[in-house]
Amino acid sequence: MNGSGYNNSKDARTIGKAAVTHILHITDFHFLAEPGQTLLGVDTEQSFAAVLEHAGHAPWKPDLALLTGDLVQDPCHSSYERLKQRLSALGIPCYCLPGNHDDPRLMSELLPSENVHVQHRIMLDPWQIVCLDSTISGKASGRLSDEQLGLLEQSLRNHPDRYTLIALHHHVIPSGSRWMDTMVLENASEFLAITQKYPHARAVVFGHVHQEIDKVFGRLRLLATPSTCFQFKPFSPNFALDIAAPGYRWIELYADGTIGTRVERLTDVPAGLEFTSNGY
Ligand SMILES: [Fe+2]
Repeated sequence: MNGSGYNNSKDARTIGKAAVTHILHITDFHFLAEPGQTLLGVDTEQSFAAVLEHAGHAPWKPDLALLTGDLVQDPCHSSYERLKQRLSALGIPCYCLPGNHDDPRLMSELLPSENVHVQHRIMLDPWQIVCLDSTISGKASGRLSDEQLGLLEQSLRNHPDRYTLIALHHHVIPSGSRWMDTMVLENASEFLAITQKYPHARAVVFGHVHQEIDKVFGRLRLLATPSTCFQFKPFSPNFALDIAAPGYRWIELYADGTIGTRVERLTDVPAGLEFTSNGY
């Protein structure tokens, strides 16, 4: 990665005839209270930095980064301030929403800066991104409040001319891991029913599951992205770590409403990862 954050050598805003928006999706950083601390043996901040370094080698500058929760493990001044500094150094707009490990109030208070934003809607002609808060105070599972569902429906109803990408923290379909699926979005069926009424709703992107998911529900693409630190083993009945490396996702939004996407990963699993852990 260069000093400004990204390699600007190639302007990739157009691919073929279609204008495209490049999104860097990163999720579940789990920053700890102090630098150098580890979680499940992993220095989560160092792993986050390694992921950004990897993404920085792309031959385009992302138009924005989308951050879908569990930004920190320890919601405190130090963890959010260190994250804010790292995001500011990226030099691209970064849009954040909370996960179950975050403190939404503290996050909204500490993170916003010139290029770091906590907001519900991002307008990208001819797209919009709707960012939802699925957290329930004091619980690991997720639910969309009536207010959040209303915001989604209002965004879809009021902007029929905008293709829509929806972002939230919790998974909206079962992952196949019994322990993880105790935390699936509680009112996922209500959420999905709204999306199905609006054909311009194109995709949902989320974190929480610390693994890649790419499925289709009706016209909707459902995308989960690996964590920037440790990964959970897919289809495991109980908590188990995976041998997959940290990763991130590229999302390309085209002017004709189509989406391109792929997951990229680091070469190695973080040093020190405690595979035998049975929880965190
Ligand atoms: Fe997480």
